Order: sequence, then C-alpha cells, then structure tokens
Amino acid sequence: MSAPIRILMCSPDHYDVDYVINPWMEGNIHKSSRDRAAEQWDKLHFILKDLAAVDLVKPQLGVPDMVFTANAGLVLGNNVVLSRFYHKERQGEEPFFKAWFEQQGYTVFELPKDLPFEGAGDALLDREGRWLWAGYGFRSELDSHPYLAKWLDIEVLSLRLMDDRFYHLDTCFCPLADGYLLYYPPAFDAYSNRLIEMRVPEAKRIAVAETDAVNFACNAVNVDRTIVMNQASDDLKQRLANVGFEIIETPLTEFLKAGGAAKCLTLRVTEPVQAEVHAAATVESRVIQLQGHLLDSGIVNRALDLIIEGGGSFQVLNFNLGEQRQSTSSAEVKVTAPSRDVMEAIMSQLIEMGAVALPQEVSDCTLEIAPKAGVAPDDFYVTTIYPTEILVKNQWVRVQNQRMDGAIVVSETPNGLTARCSLLRDLAEGDRVVVGTIGIRTVRKPESRNPQPTQEFSFMGAGVSSERRVELVVEQIAWELRKIRDQGGKVVVTAGPVVIHTGGGEHLSHLIREGYVQALLGGNAIAVHDIEQSMMGTSLGMDMKRGVSVRGGHRHHLKAINTVRRYGSIAEAVHQGVITGGIFYECVQKNIPFSLAGSIRDDGPLPDTQMDLIQAQSDYARLIEGADMILMLSSMLHSIGVGNMTPAGVKMVCVDINPAVVTKLSDRGSVESVGVVTDVGLFLSLLIQQLSRLTSRYEAAVVR
Ligand SMILES: NC(=O)c1ccc[n+]([C@@H]2O[C@H](COP(=O)([O-])OP(=O)(O)OC[C@H]3O[C@@H](n4cnc5c(N)ncnc54)[C@H](O)[C@@H]3O)[C@@H](O)[C@H]2O)c1
Repeated sequence: MSAPIRILMCSPDHYDVDYVINPWMEGNIHKSSRDRAAEQWDKLHFILKDLAAVDLVKPQLGVPDMVFTANAGLVLGNNVVLSRFYHKERQGEEPFFKAWFEQQGYTVFELPKDLPFEGAGDALLDREGRWLWAGYGFRSELDSHPYLAKWLDIEVLSLRLMDDRFYHLDTCFCPLADGYLLYYPPAFDAYSNRLIEMRVPEAKRIAVAETDAVNFACNAVNVDRTIVMNQASDDLKQRLANVGFEIIETPLTEFLKAGGAAKCLTLRVTEPVQAEVHAAATVESRVIQLQGHLLDSGIVNRALDLIIEGGGSFQVLNFNLGEQRQSTSSAEVKVTAPSRDVMEAIMSQLIEMGAVALPQEVSDCTLEIAPKAGVAPDDFYVTTIYPTEILVKNQWVRVQNQRMDGAIVVSETPNGLTARCSLLRDLAEGDRVVVGTIGIRTVRKPESRNPQPTQEFSFMGAGVSSERRVELVVEQIAWELRKIRDQGGKVVVTAGPVVIHTGGGEHLSHLIREGYVQALLGGNAIAVHDIEQSMMGTSLGMDMKRGVSVRGGHRHHLKAINTVRRYGSIAEAVHQGVITGGIFYECVQKNIPFSLAGSIRDDGPLPDTQMDLIQAQSDYARLIEGADMILMLSSMLHSIGVGNMTPAGVKMVCVDINPAVVTKLSDRGSVESVGVVTDVGLFLSLLIQQLSRLTSRYEAAVVR
C-alpha cells in the first residue's frame, strides 16, 4: 500500500484581511468575519481529513495570511524549497514555515535573497509526477525556476500569468489525477497556452469559463478522483463527472476576500519522487548593456517594458547615471526568458534598440547554411533598418547593404570576411546565414535628450504633426531641402497620383526644375495623370484649371497612355515635343532618374512602368542608395515599399491625409522620420512658398 497523503493546514485564528496585496483584497480590509472564516475552514478541514492525513502548523499573530499554507514552500520527496515572499507583508511567515519543515526532517533549500518564489502557490506538480508547472509574472520570478529544476531534479515548465486577479498559478490552474488539467486559459499568455496544449492532450484539458474562474474553481484540492473546491457551475460539475471526477463543494467565501480558496489553504507535503524524472529547465538568461540618454529618451523604460511584454523578466544589475547634462548613462540588465524561442524574440528587439551583450559574454555569431536557393535557415536573424555589426572570428564586421527584413550572409573574400544583407529571394544554396541573436549588435546614435532645438532643423522623433503644426514643419523641411541641395546631397521623392489631382503637380515640377529632387519613385498612375495634364490640361478627365469635368474626359488618361506607347517611352515623347511640361518632362530635361513600379490596377501600362516587381524593387533600391532625405507624398503602396528598403539615418518625411497611414510610415522607431497629416497639394504649395522665402532672404543677404 502506498504511503498516506499528508496535507498541511493552518487554522485561521489570526486570519483577517489586514492589507491589500492583490485585487481581491481591495475594499475588503477587515471585512471578513472571523467566525464565518473559522466555520468554513473547519468544514474544509473535516472534508480533507477523510481524504488524507492533515498536519497543522501553529498560527502566528501578525501574519494573517499564514492560513494559506500553499505558500509555505514547494515539497518534492524529502526536499522543500522555502518561499521567499514578494510582498513584505508576508515575509514574516518564512521563519515559521522553515522551522516546521526542519522539525519534520525535510531538507530545506533557500533561494537567494531578493529572488521571490511563492511555493506551491506558483509551482504545481503534474499529478503523475512527470514535471513541475511553475508560474511567474506577479509573485514568483522566472529566475527562481532553474533553482527548482536543480534542487528538485525535475523538469520545470514555466507559465506566464497575465491577469492580476489570478496572481498565483494555483488560482487558475489545477493538475488533476490521470493527467487531466483544470485551468482558465485567458490567465496565461499565448506562449504558455501553446506549452500547455503541447503537454496535455485536448481530451484531458478542462478549460473553465470566467464565472467559474472567479469563483476559484481552479483553486481546488485533488485527491485521486475527488476534487474539493469553493464552488462550481452545473456545467463544470457535469464535465468533470463525465471524466470520472467527483466534486465536493464547500463555501470558502471569507477566504476569497483575501484571494484564496481550497488549494491556497492547503499544502501537500507528501509528493513522491519519480525515479526516471530528471532536471531540465528551459529558462535562459543573458546580460545586456544599454548606453545613451537612457532616462531622458525613455530607452530604459522601453527596454524593460519590452522584456516583460515579450514574456521575460529582468534584473537591473547596475545603472550608472550620466552626471552632466550632455553625458550618457549606462545600464546592465539581466534578461531571463522561459525558453530559447522567447529569449530570441526579446533579444532581437533589444538589439534593434541598440542593446549589446557584455564584452565578457560576447561570442561569435552563429552561422547556418541556407538549405536551398531563396530559403534561409529556420532561425535566421531578421535584419532591421539600423546599421548592424556581427562578430565573426572575434572581429566585429559591419553588415553591408543594410535594410530591414533581410538575412545576413557572411562570405570569405581574398580581402577578409564580409557580411551583407540579402533578401530571401537572393539567397543562394549554401550561403552562410546568421541565425539566432548571439554576436549581433546595432550601432545607434544616442537618442537626443532635447529633440526640438529651436535654431536648427530637427525632425520630430517619429512624431505625427497636427494641422496646427504643418506650417512650422514645412518651414523646417524647406530649410533642410535647401541645405541638402546646397551641399550636393540627394533627395528622393516617392509620389502617388493624388499629387496631380490636388494641383500639386506644378509644385513638384518646380522642385525638380530647381534642383531639389535627385530621383523620383512612383507607379503608373502618377506618370499617366501628369502626362494627361500636360497634354490635355485634365487629370482623370477633370479640367485642372476650372475644376469641372470635361466631356469625354474619362478617356483622356488612356489617350495619354496610348500616345506614350506610340513613342516607346516618356523620354522619347518629351524629346519629340509631345510632352511639353509637368513632372516627368522636368525629370527628362534635368536628367533626373525615375522608376515606375507596376501594380494590378494599372491601365496600359506606360512603356516605362516596370511590371516585373522584383526588377522594380531593385530599381527602387538602386535609386534610394545614398539618399539624405526621402519625401513620401500620398502613396501608401509605394511609400511603404520604400520605407522597407531604407536604412536608418535617412531622413523621411511622410505626407498623407490619413493619420493612420502617416503613423504607419513614420513609426520606424527612428528619430529621423516625421509625419505630416495634410492635403498633399497644400503641403507642396506651402513648401514652394517657404523655399522662395528662403531664396529671397538668401539673395537679400548676398546684396547686403
Ligand atoms: N490608372 C492607373 O493606372 C492607376 C490609377 C490609380 C492607381 N494606380 C496604381 O495603383 C497603385 C496604388 O495607387 P496609390 O499610390 O495612389 O494608392 P494608395 O492607396 O497606395 O495611396 C494613396 C494615398 O493617398 C492618400 N491621400 C488621398 N487623398 C489625399 C490628399 N488630398 N492629400 C494627401 N494624401 C491623400 C491616401 O490616404 C492614401 O494613403 C500605384 O501603383 C498606382 O500607380 C494606377
């Protein structure tokens, strides 16, 4: 016969809601009745005595939550990992529980100070003893899980809690006999739910609805085929009965006021060790370093939020605050994640923010072979817009052709090692591709602590302007355009047909004529409508001067296309004197290269429109190279395409009437982009006015 099951309880002599450390306690301070609590506890005790031997630990004054013995520690065999309570209100319980375990002859393991872990409240053995489910997110730290694996010699599966009403794992998760599981899935993040689904077959998963979850149905004590709990709906009782469980309900409402019920009031202190089970923990930790104006620019907050939102946890190991206004700060942060996959997802975002591994922790990046042409190894590192370096043979190598959404290919050349960004489709079989996140860093300019100096042009950090601010922003853009032109820099414009419909065509033509534009990107439509306007004075059949539609005008754009097709190209039509003005006329006259990328909705198309989209992407990429600024004018399709292939460091101005488009385009997490929500025709006309003002000021200064 197997040894009897023993359960530890603590009578509620000193129980009360004395403080608030979880949402259930809110509004319940001193609202529980001690008599009713004693009566409910006695009933539970009575029921359990029938199912197991019940041991009692002496209640102590000043630690009212000691009644919740589940949080005393975690027992497996003769070993116990003692709790380290997160809240100081409960830390006073630790010595009493420690003394009890020692008196009973257990080997007591104690976690390092400041590493919270709340015992069997957050760590539940699979009832077959195959592994340990361990929760984190509110009370217990993920970093405690490797200790549990090592000391108890068992596989630990980490589950992240997301809903503060279910702050301990045992409030929403109850492993049952025969591999069944009673749980409330919305209390966990997506990764944890996947993990649960991988380990527990569907037929054995009993998911409860919110009404049962808030009645603490999962906070149940299971002994063989009996489950003791506060309350269950008829539906839940039926489902459990269908798979052979008997439910005993016993009201525990007074304890619910403190956020606990049947399971919280008990600790199973006999948990047999399975000889064939051994330690395994998938939890991983890495130390990263952040540098810059960490507080002013908010990088530290963003990095820590990102770790938590990504399903990890952190410990700030040190923080050196820059002493002067101009000096930068640095921080070392230990990042912990429940698995390699989660760690990689968090790390790739931290790398994008400029985080680097500590010098002593850095090792060469990992390379894997592309399995076939156009296909990267599964775990390939996805590139970002930021300048990137990789460590190969102990040497940092700058990645060439930086762009987002590519892979990094490393090659040996006679001149040494090289690394370049490659689109998936350009990978050759056998290419050596960087995988994972080790040995990779991005080189970031420290984010400014004062993003809007008044004298100098400065783009708002990924800001989107309101109408009120448009004029000011246009003034700054004009200033910058002028500066780039005078310094022989490069401005690329990407534009949609709305530029023509809103009367902006003449202004864009002016910019090209005056040398402010060095390359033009667009689609079939901008060229068709520009040429229609130049040849017939209409845009999509509307008279652009009078603003009325012209009889038969809807055919004008097709006639324009037909004419250009007859001449073979836009340039030829210009040379033959057929096109005598407009945006593309100016491009041809000034030798400004342009690329028109085709789309499914194109009429014609014009002979210049590149319908091979891979070729069109390459043409765009070639024209963007070396750009100092990109002006994106009312074309969501082409602007997003351009944004994806542009590295950080290039100033981007996105103009669109739709704030959502502007936000999407300017939200690159980069300080160099600005969004302007306005009519593109109005924007261009204001821009020309500002530029001519700058020119007159400049000429006046020269005359003086
Ligand atoms: N006849 C044709 O061949 C034809 C006609 C239209 C479009 N197209 C093609 O379809 C593709 C997509 O066209 P697209 O780039 O025009 O569409 P798009 O939807 O990608 O972008 C248009 C953008 O303009 C914005 N917008 C609308 N009115 C505005 C205003 N007054 N001021 C500022 N922004 C304004 C919209 O919010 C939108 O984001 C392109 O390749 C284009 O060449 C072809």
